[in-house]
Amino acid sequence: MAKCDIHSLPNMEEARNRTTKFDFEYENVIPSDDLKKYALGKTYFIRTYGCQANYRDEEIIAGLLEKTGYKKADDISNADFILLNTCAVRENAEQKVYGMIGELKAFKTKNKNVIIGLCGCMVQQKHIIEHVLKTYRHVDLIFGTHNIHQFLNLLEEVAIKKTKVVDVKSLPDAIHENLPSVRSSNFKAFVNIAYGCDKFCTYCIVPYTRGKERSRKMEDILKEVRELKNFGYKEVTLLGENVNSYGKDLKDGTTFAKLLDEVAKINIPRVRFLTSHPWDFTSDIIDVIAKHDNIMKYIHLPVQSGSDEILHLMGRRYTSKQYKELVDLIRNKIPGVAISTDIIVGFPNETYEQFLDTVKMVEYVKYESAFTFIYSPRNGTPAAKMVDNVTNKEKSQRFQELVKALEKTISPSSEKMVGNVYDVLVETVSEKDKTMMSGYTETNKLVHFKGDPSLIGEIVKVKINESHTYSLIGELVDER
Ligand code: SAH
Ligand code: SF4
Ligand code: F3S
Repeated sequence: MAKCDIHSLPNMEEARNRTTKFDFEYENVIPSDDLKKYALGKTYFIRTYGCQANYRDEEIIAGLLEKTGYKKADDISNADFILLNTCAVRENAEQKVYGMIGELKAFKTKNKNVIIGLCGCMVQQKHIIEHVLKTYRHVDLIFGTHNIHQFLNLLEEVAIKKTKVVDVKSLPDAIHENLPSVRSSNFKAFVNIAYGCDKFCTYCIVPYTRGKERSRKMEDILKEVRELKNFGYKEVTLLGENVNSYGKDLKDGTTFAKLLDEVAKINIPRVRFLTSHPWDFTSDIIDVIAKHDNIMKYIHLPVQSGSDEILHLMGRRYTSKQYKELVDLIRNKIPGVAISTDIIVGFPNETYEQFLDTVKMVEYVKYESAFTFIYSPRNGTPAAKMVDNVTNKEKSQRFQELVKALEKTISPSSEKMVGNVYDVLVETVSEKDKTMMSGYTETNKLVHFKGDPSLIGEIVKVKINESHTYSLIGELVDER
């Protein structure tokens, strides 16, 4: 496959643009007869990296493929189409993908008809596409986050015209509704409420890879949630880079508080949402969470740093004092709420004292869980241009120190649960011990207990007997 058709390449400068207009398009995907003929008896394998937005995209790409007749492969080694759905948020995310692209060469050598594709956030960067085209000649198809709706046309070009195709747009043109999807679970589901991000935190690539913040219409979201309810789903998670700013761009008075209230009324047993930027977290949102029993009392509230100087350099738009006041308000209005966070250590020129402010924040908030990261410079972001005087060794030491500080607050929050009974949504058979089942409490604590796989997808009562930092051991409580 020598010829390469480059339809469009992304540009980071262009991707900053927030003034372009976009539309709502209600799609009706009908694959061509040629593609259906080609797909007959063929299988696909998708590997997704990164966040929930990417996992939801995978479900849509799978939905599109299955419309043509492709079936999911039971193993990558016998798939006819292999797609890597990539993440660009940190350097190590990209390294993992490069490792995997390298491994895929063997599949192509074994069977030259295998189609290998790349999509997702990583390919929204021109230098990555150039590197892939030069170094990994076995990649046949590259498309971006803004043209998933065109994926079947691009695949058809590769499959039938036998050309390589690259089509990555810098900017989104519309919100594409009604795309088919194959959900990965039949009891918990992700529902996009908004795409993109306008916050432009100085370290972050997401506003460039995912584009302008754009909200789905409330009626389209509610329709999707009602369908999930009718299918018997037990949990929905509303997804957006900043769920709290949902609706602002619609300019018709729609807010996240209103949406959340309406979603809760549909009565799916568990409603969750991700991610909340502290800046837009208004008290009416807190009131709605407090009001409904089926909105989980679990809030992911990324703090990133406890130092005001670093927060300012990060462009986070709140001070440590404002963040603490928000946490106090949430804890006062929502008894028993669990708060989790994201933290970055080693931002350019972070001093040890500034790092200690982050440790103090951890001690103040007493997070129930946390995701911690070492700062990773991202090409094209403002922070990547800052001179950095913190060594990698110092960054790793701070990271270790932070993990210890977090364990000190997370362990007691788990210990407190021992002896009590909690509702657990059962998800899987435990990996370590096949006689154990694993699931999550309302506040997102991982629980293992002896049970039967028939419980998967059910909400059961579990009494907690033992606590570890990151998981709990319990026993099923007989409800009869
Ligand atoms: N929209 C979400 C975050 C999406 S990215 C929010 O604002 O909360 C998930 C997390 O990755 C971020 O919260 C941040 O902690 C981390 N992250 C993003 N860019 C990073 C970078 N360049 N280096 C290290 N961590 C980063
Ligand atoms: Fe990135 Fe900040 Fe947007 Fe989150 S809010 S996606 S960290 S720019
Ligand atoms: Fe990664 Fe893109 Fe999500 S960069 S974290 S997959 S929005």
